[in-house]
Amino acid sequence: MQTVDLLLIHAEQLVTCAGGGKPKRGEQMRDAGMIVDGALAVRDGRILAVGTTRDITAQYRAERTINASGKAVIPGLVDCHTHTVYAGNRLDEFEMRIQGRSYMEIMAAGGGIMSTVRATRAMPFEMLYAESRARLDTMLRLGTTTAEIKTGYGLDTETELKILTVITQLAAEHTLTIVPTFLGAHAVPPEYPDAATYAGMVVHEMLPAVTATQTMARQPFFIDVFCEKGVFDVATSRQVLAAGKRAGMGVKAHVDEFVNLGGVTMAVELGAASVDHLDVTPEAELDILGRSGTVGVALPAVNFNLGGTHFANARYLVDAGGILALATDINPGSAPTPSMPMVMAIATRYQKLLPAEALNAATLNAAYAIGLGEQVGSLEVGKQADFLVLDTPDYRAMIYEFGGNLVESVVVRGRLLA
Ligand code: NIG
Ligand code: FE
Repeated sequence: MQTVDLLLIHAEQLVTCAGGGKPKRGEQMRDAGMIVDGALAVRDGRILAVGTTRDITAQYRAERTINASGKAVIPGLVDCHTHTVYAGNRLDEFEMRIQGRSYMEIMAAGGGIMSTVRATRAMPFEMLYAESRARLDTMLRLGTTTAEIKTGYGLDTETELKILTVITQLAAEHTLTIVPTFLGAHAVPPEYPDAATYAGMVVHEMLPAVTATQTMARQPFFIDVFCEKGVFDVATSRQVLAAGKRAGMGVKAHVDEFVNLGGVTMAVELGAASVDHLDVTPEAELDILGRSGTVGVALPAVNFNLGGTHFANARYLVDAGGILALATDINPGSAPTPSMPMVMAIATRYQKLLPAEALNAATLNAAYAIGLGEQVGSLEVGKQADFLVLDTPDYRAMIYEFGGNLVESVVVRGRLLA
């Protein structure tokens, strides 16, 4: 009998999302990896063993035991695309959109991303840190235990570095596992005559300043770009991403949110970790994505929030054998939501994903989208002991019900949070 730090026993459903060292594709997405009357043994914040309660209690005992009888237990959720660090809100634009103005019209008129940039430039570091931290607290209560966070509301070197410092300080101090992404090419600020000139500054001035602040060797660190008509075209996006790649960063891209430009093909050629949005990606490019190792990240809270009835064809990507992930895209404009369960609720209804597919997309595959596929996203031996005890015996209820919160308790790195 071995003594461990923590045992979780008698989970009605222990939903492991186990991938065996790989992300899930196609038919595998329908398998949530469920163990009935499941148990976990945890040591030093990592999962030491997974099995039935009978098997695990025959081998291990612990000082501390969580009895999850009558409850479903799932991996901590992984929000692989967020803009959590921002100032202010866009309540006036929300009303403008309700009255018929479009997201891109508002952006072209100097609102949208630029309005959040102005607020973020003006906000002192401490306040930006405190407000972002509070957002992460909310995400954690809703079950998110790992998040990627992008810069991109600075668009000058000083403010991009301020945001990146907020992110790295949150990574050091917050319970969540956090992965930073540099999104200097999020919009073209009005100080610049055109996208190419601004992108040149991003590559030659911002990027070296940003990479100088990071220890690139071990931690995942990404570069991202908003590849969209009227923002950065494919050629300019490729230059920015290639420069990040040469500096040792992983590649991500916002593509095909409104207009299809061929960004998926470009990003897959660069070996991107993920391509995100995919709202208007044609089947031919979803086929290319489906054959690649690049994760396709759908952000259906954006379509929902913008009042759209059209959603990314996530069903097609899964059926084409691609790696699908889901994320909130939390930001004050296109997706003001901290809730991964809400995202799964939308994805099941409008993108025709089964609950098991949505959960695998929000955990294991999302972890692969941010370079943490070996560390988090499933309940497998050796991974971080990040899991959620749900106030329901059937995990599907977390996706079937919406607007509430079925997360009863959150365990991160083997520590039960109050
Ligand atoms: O992922 N599309 C570009 N960027 C964000 C929106 C940011 C904003 O509106 O502030 C997105 O949707
Ligand atoms: Fe985004």
